[in-house]
Amino acid sequence: MRITAPAEAAGIPIDSINLADNDLYTKRDAHLAWKTLRAECPVFWQARAGGEGFWAVTRRADVCRVLGEHETFTSEGGTAISMLDAPDPAAGIMMQATDPPRHQQFREQLGKPFSPRAVRSYAEQVRAFVRDAIRPACDGEVWDAAASFSRLPMTVGAMLMGLPDADVDSLVRLAYASLAPDDPRYRITDSAGPVAVSAHFKIIDYFTRCIEDRKRNLADDLISYLITAEIGGRRMTDEELMSNCLSLLLGAVVTTSHAISATLLGLTEQYGGEGRWPDVMPMQTAVEEALRWSSPVNHFMRRARHDTEISDQKIAAGDPVTAWIASANRDESTFDRPYELDFSRAPNRHVAFGSGPHLCIGSHLARLMLQHSFDELVASIESFELADAPVHLVSTEIAGVVSLPLRIKLRSRLIPAAS
Ligand code: HEM
Repeated sequence: MRITAPAEAAGIPIDSINLADNDLYTKRDAHLAWKTLRAECPVFWQARAGGEGFWAVTRRADVCRVLGEHETFTSEGGTAISMLDAPDPAAGIMMQATDPPRHQQFREQLGKPFSPRAVRSYAEQVRAFVRDAIRPACDGEVWDAAASFSRLPMTVGAMLMGLPDADVDSLVRLAYASLAPDDPRYRITDSAGPVAVSAHFKIIDYFTRCIEDRKRNLADDLISYLITAEIGGRRMTDEELMSNCLSLLLGAVVTTSHAISATLLGLTEQYGGEGRWPDVMPMQTAVEEALRWSSPVNHFMRRARHDTEISDQKIAAGDPVTAWIASANRDESTFDRPYELDFSRAPNRHVAFGSGPHLCIGSHLARLMLQHSFDELVASIESFELADAPVHLVSTEIAGVVSLPLRIKLRSRLIPAAS
């Protein structure tokens, strides 16, 4: 998806906007559509040919309210527009598709392995994985930064879950097939049914085997922890275990690496073709700005529990309401120069990790991966330029760069060889 400033200063006709159309994110300019909606129609009804329509909120304040106010907007009726036309089988079972107070019981246990303290203990291994991702850049050829980093979150996830590294590539492909089923790169060839459904079943099958194995041989890993964790006074059922392993996998795999590639792409555009690091790059604010800029999750969805209003627009009970996170992160009423990538930006009230009770549980881990990645990139690479056009993920949900071929100028420092 284009993540730069909208190509045109003026808005576009509201009735030309289709937020459910993949082409908006790959061939057209989603930021121009969101900018128009923020200015002219902040609570917009998007009709869908042959399916249920949905409300779309695009201003930051409304996005925070829809994601955060669970008494009015439930997560148990589907959480993305790809889930509109059927009931969500994970409602009440998967943490992300469960409302408080049950949600809180999941969160208390599932949150422990992702607390700031727990995450700090993974730092050394994460750094080593980051170095593996950057090492191919040192061979002097064109380096596809997006492809290299796409493995990183799953490699970290495999380390935490005790899964073999040999399974990482196939799990990454299945995660993308499940969340970006219209992207031809992730088509599943050995299945006749819908791609997302086959991918889901393959991941569920995989975790069923892992869970059976761990039940026989508990180990010191995340899956064993989840098997023994008590949620509301009892252990999770196999269905709850599988759904939550799936959710952790999808949450991690299809998001974090895009914050890196979208930022590299943004830098090439900002500096007239030759990307480089700014003279001053305070790492903490740089990571937050990379998250705001890239907004790897475009939207999440809720359903109104009862009749309500958002910014004077009546919403009926049962209506789907989508919260456009990527638009909120360019809201000009919150951010000065919203289309400028400014690594010193502070304060930075971005909502890349959402808002309210479902605020991303993996945010500390994602920040750790991003911090080490930018540390290593800045230390190793002086400048970079596009060697070919970037390729964007075909998805309404995830803003992803799947290929970013870069010609790079290295600094003299060499990345240590793999041990
Ligand atoms: C830059 C990287 C990431 C971004 C932008 C991101 C974004 C988000 C957002 C916006 C939500 C809110 C969902 C909602 O309101 O319905 C969320 C929730 C979640 N994320 Fe992330 N995420 C990232 C990394 C991760 C990682 C590394 C993990 C795995 C550890 C993860 C696992 C989850 C889970 C399980 C939830 C559901 C939390 C709940 O329902 O309480 N995410 N994420």
